[in-house]
Amino acid sequence: MIRRARVSVVLSGLLLVTLAGAVVAHWSPRERERAHAADPPALTADALKLAERIYRQGILPSGAPLRAVGAEGELVGAAAACVQCHRRSGMGLFEGNRIIPPIAGRYLQQPRTRGPDELDARHTRGPDLAHAIGRSRAWAPYTQASVRRALTEGIDATGRRFDALMPRYALDEHDARLLGAYLAQLGAERPAGVTPDTLHFATVVTPDVPPAKRAALLDVLAAFCEVRNAGRRLDKLRERRYAGSSGSTYREWQLHVWELTGPPETWPAQLDAAMQRQPVFALLSGIATETWAPVQQFCAQRGVPCWFPTVDLPPTSHDDFYSIYFSDGVTLEAGILARIVSERRPRRVIQLRGQDVAAAGAAQAVTRALGGGPVASEVRVLDTLSPSSLRRALADVTGADAVVAWLRGGDLATLGAVPPPPAPVYFSATLAGDERARLPSAWKGVTRLAYPFELPARRRANVSRFETWLQTRGLPRVDERVQAEAYLTSMLMAEKVDEILEELQREYLLERAEGILATHATTAIYRGLSLGPGQRVASKGGYVVRFGGSDGESLVADSDWIVP
Ligand code: HEC
Repeated sequence: MIRRARVSVVLSGLLLVTLAGAVVAHWSPRERERAHAADPPALTADALKLAERIYRQGILPSGAPLRAVGAEGELVGAAAACVQCHRRSGMGLFEGNRIIPPIAGRYLQQPRTRGPDELDARHTRGPDLAHAIGRSRAWAPYTQASVRRALTEGIDATGRRFDALMPRYALDEHDARLLGAYLAQLGAERPAGVTPDTLHFATVVTPDVPPAKRAALLDVLAAFCEVRNAGRRLDKLRERRYAGSSGSTYREWQLHVWELTGPPETWPAQLDAAMQRQPVFALLSGIATETWAPVQQFCAQRGVPCWFPTVDLPPTSHDDFYSIYFSDGVTLEAGILARIVSERRPRRVIQLRGQDVAAAGAAQAVTRALGGGPVASEVRVLDTLSPSSLRRALADVTGADAVVAWLRGGDLATLGAVPPPPAPVYFSATLAGDERARLPSAWKGVTRLAYPFELPARRRANVSRFETWLQTRGLPRVDERVQAEAYLTSMLMAEKVDEILEELQREYLLERAEGILATHATTAIYRGLSLGPGQRVASKGGYVVRFGGSDGESLVADSDWIVP
């Protein structure tokens, strides 16, 4: 009962926060200084690593697992780790009726807002007032001793007993101190790439990307930054004039383009050098048609968010915190096709591909998915894609087979010189791009496309907003997916940056991307975008489509929505 009441107060608080977003006051530098004066001395780099291991993995400096008693019994190791509830950023979580308070640095030193009436007061804290509202309780700043008591005895700084959800930890004095010092430094420093008036982003372009795609992406990103900066400048003037506020949330976006060269093994060093020259807060978008793995690896190692790049073949491991993607690209398509082909039971699945890295990854994923099943599968690799090599590869195909052709847009024209086989031929919408319209008409009858987007007829209203935006900026529509993704990426970043205000921590940015996207109204070409806690891919399914409609030229569904 009590919990429910608290949640509804918090909900109304959230609304208020959204409305008041632009005028919520922040800590002045002097207030920050005062709070930091209560901090314990800084941790050495080694001690920081040990403390971080307790916090994130539940491993004590001795190597033994962290142990605690939780609401439902004993917790050991990773299950007991603070990150499970308070998250990497230490900013906590507000989800359903679970309210986990922020414990990063100053939140343990700074009074909580007690009610909506305090929202505008100078001492309101943080962006996520949800954590604080409704806690009309006595408050006292934490000391190292009371943090230890909180962890081991479950009693807060005023002597109040915690909710059973906060576990009671078995920690000796040394380890408790280490954790206390770790909490004190969490979120205390402004990350590199954030200055009082500028937010630096980088967009990574890999060397395999054709110039037209690169330009399509960069033009949209540049236009977005320009419009945002102009608008914000105006807001800043207004606020200065009428509210006398510090205006500290108005930062110009500066976008740096990091062009990679040479083989993928050399990219991490190039990225490190670029980061050294100009540190950035996050990678905003980015583009690759072949591998992206070295970029993801760089982001994981340096703790830099990789924010929705346009990539055909995202790395398949998504246990990495820092990289988030719109979809799994051709790997998702491979999953959709493997599912459909298994259902339709052809005698054989014959996959065709050239030397393209993304095509190779996709073909491998289909083979893996069909492995051990009743459908025989075979991959035919064409050294060069020519009418004669295609004709040879298709010569023995019968009506009982299915063909999966991992071909790029430019290669589709080659099909014109070859008669279509008497079997369905599945293509990749991701690889075909907008050039799929150039598919020879003789082939359209047998063509099916793995289509990891919303159907054109159903997304019209959603896409028109983006198209209007393009028109207003004087940008022609040259590559729908690339441009729509660049627009969405920027918009989602703007939304999150505006939400987190002065709490510009990289981990917190990524945590805010989770959960909240579920309700996102603008999805452009996608059916829906949502990231649950821990998820790293926002659109998880797709259709198989074929050419149809009155003109035989529209893409219509040939399957339900499939989430492989
Ligand atoms: C299972 C979820 C969970 C885990 C794991 C967890 N906490 Fe908590 N923690 C909570 C909840 C819930 C509260 C709020 C309790 C209350 O106010 O009644 C809390 C409160 C706190 C507070 C007091 C905050 C305040 O404003 O008074 C501190 C400090 C804290 N936790 C630190 C930690 C540390 C350090 C770890 C890891 C060693 C940890 N917690 C692990 C759920 C968790």
